[in-house]
Amino acid sequence: MCGIIGHVGDSDAIDTLITGLENLEYRGYDSAGVAVQNGSGIAIQKRSGRVSELKESIEDRPLKGRVGIGHTRWSTHGPPTDENAHPHTNSTTDVAVVHNGIIENYAELKARLERKGHEFTSDTDTEVIPHLIQQYLDEGVENETAFRRAIDELEGSYAVAVMVSGEHALYAARRGSPLVVGVEDDEFFLASDVPAFLEYTDEVVYLEDGDVAIVRPDGVEFTDLGGNPVSRDLETVNWDPEQTGKGEYDHFMLKEIFEQPTSLAQAIEGRTDPETEAVHLEGFGPGTFDGVETVQLIACGTSYHAALYGSLVLNQAGIPSRALLANEYSVCAPPVDEETLVVAVSQSGETADTLSALREATAEGAQTLTVTNVMGSTAAREADDSLLIRAGPEIGVAATKTFSSQAVVLELLAHRLTCDVLGTSPFDLESFLPELDRLPGRLEGLLESTDARAIARRYQGSQSYFFIGRGLGYPVALEGALKFKEITYEHAEGFASGELKHGPLALVTPETPVFAVFTGQEDEKTLKNAEEAQTRGAPVVAVCPDDHRATEVADAHLEIPPTNPELAGLLANVQLQLVSYHAADLLGRPIDKPRNLAKSVTVE
Ligand code: G6P
Repeated sequence: MCGIIGHVGDSDAIDTLITGLENLEYRGYDSAGVAVQNGSGIAIQKRSGRVSELKESIEDRPLKGRVGIGHTRWSTHGPPTDENAHPHTNSTTDVAVVHNGIIENYAELKARLERKGHEFTSDTDTEVIPHLIQQYLDEGVENETAFRRAIDELEGSYAVAVMVSGEHALYAARRGSPLVVGVEDDEFFLASDVPAFLEYTDEVVYLEDGDVAIVRPDGVEFTDLGGNPVSRDLETVNWDPEQTGKGEYDHFMLKEIFEQPTSLAQAIEGRTDPETEAVHLEGFGPGTFDGVETVQLIACGTSYHAALYGSLVLNQAGIPSRALLANEYSVCAPPVDEETLVVAVSQSGETADTLSALREATAEGAQTLTVTNVMGSTAAREADDSLLIRAGPEIGVAATKTFSSQAVVLELLAHRLTCDVLGTSPFDLESFLPELDRLPGRLEGLLESTDARAIARRYQGSQSYFFIGRGLGYPVALEGALKFKEITYEHAEGFASGELKHGPLALVTPETPVFAVFTGQEDEKTLKNAEEAQTRGAPVVAVCPDDHRATEVADAHLEIPPTNPELAGLLANVQLQLVSYHAADLLGRPIDKPRNLAKSVTVE
């Protein structure tokens, strides 16, 4: 986790660094800090707490400089104190370092350096890096050589940016953690992710594992760790800088929920043709998946729920498929061979658990594919192929629009797969494709008329919140509960509706509202399960169309427009996102930055 930012150019670095950190705060918000070359050396300000607190402290004690680095932290080694905040330095503050990742051999390096007289002031693994560089500088080598030698000693994962006092340059390296360079004429940026500097430039170069970038006022040099030049393409990111701001909304989460009509339209644009009943996935023509026998979808968090959604579509179509938690994969992955397609589903494409499962599947000889929102992400580059969900930047830690886009793109992928493998689509295309086309419009109507805030208020203060669904409603129930607990800090649990009677019913009381998702698949059974909870006192909130029989039984209703069973869950999911949002808002929670969480988890 953690976000890093760097700036080299003619303009003052502080504004760029603070803006970058604000845009990267979704990666962690335990502490923040910046360092700049201020003409007489390296000046640093860092502290525990949010970027806004750092900004205030810089307003009180201004910093100036054209070259600088910054960091926002999600704690791994050591608590979120001022001392553990980055940048870290050597004892004379000649070398400043920001780091995202984990240095696995830091204890051994630290012990060695301490024996040589180096004194450490933090609990972090990162602090060994400036001391290692200092050790080599003390031997009289150039800054660049000292940097390369120090990096060569590190084991584990890192994206690092380093400044040495007096030199107007940044040294950066990546292994296992993301790092991207932004280029705008003679201004250069370094960051963990593009939104950090998107308002300054959309021209980017993604570093690959093992790369070193040396950023100077006259340009950027890309090499391997040994100093051999490597060629990296300059790419244009087609994200709109407006998308990285909150606009008229109080929270990114609400903005991103309301962006779903657009993000879904983008996900399907040019990929479907209802008139000819055709699906075109760029790069995945007919026959791409000939010979695939089984599919495994690997993912974490919300992406896992989308993966489960995709796997259920495939299973219903007749292709053996499993969604697996990426963090469990190394312990108990089902066997794979070259007829197995392993699909990594990851919004960021940087989740360490997912990358590690993807690498394991590759090593075992599976075919691999990444479904992601981030072009150039590690998962996209490491898999055999990648498919973009085109949701645009998502800043709120709680994933919303990326879930619906992942689910829809996985449905299109399921179509391609089943056509190739079984010669038939999982959908009745004559009705599915026009309904898919109408989905963004239906969502707009739902967003305008939702009663989610009233429902959230009505059940505020309950002891626990349950979410149930069957078939494609099941991943939606799981996702509804995850969203609710993430941002309200209230207990919530999702269940397959038929499973309620096998244990969870013991928890049901008038203080446990049950949100029941109806998708049109075996709804009578789901209604019966909801009634079993209701009989025991639990209020039932039916998430279903207006004319559904569940509305006669339920205590409350969240309306979704009628549509195909394969799409109804996605509409229900948006109602549940809104309920979570409003419940958290009524409780005054920090919705975009829930405690202890981060958007992109780059540690296992
Ligand atoms: C973190 C985030 C979740 C996200 C999960 C997987 O835990 O807080 O919102 O679903 O990572 O992220 P990915 O980028 O792989 O989809």
